[in-house]
Amino acid sequence: MGEFKPLVFSGVQPTGNLHLGNYLGAIRKFVALQENNDCMYCVVDLHALTAQLVHDDMPAQIRSITAAFLAAGIDPKQHIVFNQSQVPQHAELAWIFNCVARLGWMNRMTQFKDKAGKDREQASLGLYAYPSLMAADILVYRATHVPVGEDQKQHLELTRDIAMKFNIDFMDKIRPTGLGIDITVGEEPVHAYFPMVEPLIDGPAPRVMSFKDGTKKMSKSDPSDLSRINLMDDADAISRKIRKAKTDPDALPSEVDGLKGRPEADNLVGIFAALADKTKAEVLGEFGGQQFSVFKPALVDLSIEVLAPISAEMRRLMADPSYIDSVLRDGGARARERAEKTMNEVRDIIGFVR
Ligand code: TYM
Repeated sequence: MGEFKPLVFSGVQPTGNLHLGNYLGAIRKFVALQENNDCMYCVVDLHALTAQLVHDDMPAQIRSITAAFLAAGIDPKQHIVFNQSQVPQHAELAWIFNCVARLGWMNRMTQFKDKAGKDREQASLGLYAYPSLMAADILVYRATHVPVGEDQKQHLELTRDIAMKFNIDFMDKIRPTGLGIDITVGEEPVHAYFPMVEPLIDGPAPRVMSFKDGTKKMSKSDPSDLSRINLMDDADAISRKIRKAKTDPDALPSEVDGLKGRPEADNLVGIFAALADKTKAEVLGEFGGQQFSVFKPALVDLSIEVLAPISAEMRRLMADPSYIDSVLRDGGARARERAEKTMNEVRDIIGFVR
């Protein structure tokens, strides 16, 4: 019984401004994980074409996500930061996964249904195949752990399904190459080439909600800018948005259970906890029984304390695009080397002559 070498991989799309949900659900976790893991963080520019083909500001968007990674504290020398289009092996493996994944699996993807909207006939084929490319992003490095927000959970389950079907369908081809590892999935022993990825979703803010409606996800596409904090917002904007955030009239509860049925309160407490690296219980230990008139100013101060240095550093980095491009080029070259090794193995397993 062996084990895959632990490797963290995650991606962020270069579409629209990054917001507090992206930061707490993803980027802040990326930073924490780099202490004890080999990590790869990718700006997924190929994915950005799925909903909208032409982007006037594509280079600026790619650089701004990269700047956010670096400003948040990711070390591009110790780890790998790159943009997806620099590693064509992602798209190559995605094609193979298009032939592994079943239509029935893709038809269950809720994000496709949401993004395609009513006029599904007009959605791109790329939007439909999106999760297959996402699986390829991860598995082209045989990555084992994927930090994401809760909205990506279904895509990671599909990634596991794709890996499992590939492993089983090609089991007799994998074994003689000596490249596989014996693992158990549930009760079942499998001789696996691709690992079963583990989503890293937990934490106090796996799903940051809109400030206007505690039942809706905080999102780049919400028409109201008051619904979210953008990573580039200044202190005034952060303060205004938190003060205007929807709440209920009651005081904060002293126990986490008391947040049930209070989505706005739950959201703000979760955000505070994530920003302070505390649990919700610890935050309620401090603020239980207090009114929002006390809690909100504390949340404003904490948010500015954490976010202002990040947005200042993002601005500084974005003033030097050639430095950002050199980080991506260096990361791209190192990523390509790893991806090509996997692809040669996959070509051999499938039986492509090379
Ligand atoms: P994207 O670009 O939409 O979002 C980037 C990350 O931010 C998280 N996130 C949130 N977390 C908490 N609360 C929210 N309101 C919120 N909104 C967004 C997302 O869960 C994500 O972690 N499909 C991915 C990009 C991707 C990817 C990958 C991720 C492509 N390939 C491989 C991991 C591994 C996406 O669209 O994320």
